[in-house]
Amino acid sequence: MIALIPAAGSGSRMASVAPKQYLDLAGQPLIWHTLSALSKVAELDQIVVVISPEDEWWDSFDWCEFKRLEVLRCGGASRAESVLNGLLALQGSDDWVLVHDAARPCLDPALVSQMIVELVNHPVGGILAVPVADTLKLAQAGQHIAHTHPREGLWQAQTPQMFRIAQLAHALTIGMGPDITDEASALEKLGLQPKLVMGSPWNLKVTYPQDLRLAELILAAGRLG
Ligand code: CTP
Ligand code: MG
Repeated sequence: MIALIPAAGSGSRMASVAPKQYLDLAGQPLIWHTLSALSKVAELDQIVVVISPEDEWWDSFDWCEFKRLEVLRCGGASRAESVLNGLLALQGSDDWVLVHDAARPCLDPALVSQMIVELVNHPVGGILAVPVADTLKLAQAGQHIAHTHPREGLWQAQTPQMFRIAQLAHALTIGMGPDITDEASALEKLGLQPKLVMGSPWNLKVTYPQDLRLAELILAAGRLG
């Protein structure tokens, strides 16, 4: 089983000098924590990181402690393209792949093992996700509320997202476009129904500057047990 980590984004919403995956988080680059969590998942044989061909940061850190790590400099213009390019480099395998955002450093390794148990016999695969808790508003001009959208049955997608390598590569190739914002959406476009596995509110995606502090607090709380 393989983990594939798209890490070729520029982090535009973070508005920082370096892409967010390299920003300092509790004394290490953010992506170090992501790799550390995945390296604790015994079921994973290999961790593949996809970075941008223009990446100037990766080589300035030491990654030796991660034994099963491979880096591919084949990132694309969108997350979906980065994932597809990474999958094509793994061609020939019909193993499971767990795609996980570099920008989710607070992943609990035990949750990943639990997810694998839930999905390993599933015909399609699935994703970590959490049910929407807040009331949802559709905005119209001037930031006024057009109406309230029923939240029943709505979930927020997280990662990892676990699918078969060949099927995911096929789905991304056929479906590639701006509407494919995660792996599951590509499978859905083929008429398949990935499973929703209960994720965790701690598994946040660092997106805006204030998320860094939140991630630091979550990591510190984890260390306290
Ligand atoms: N990603 C990628 N290739 C891209 C764009 C994104 O591999 N062309 C990766 C990011 O590095 C990140 C994950 O996909 O780990 C989730 O994307 P997101 O949080 O949107 O990161 P960025 O695209 O870097 O941030 P922004 O959208 O704010 O620019
Ligand atoms: Mg993005």
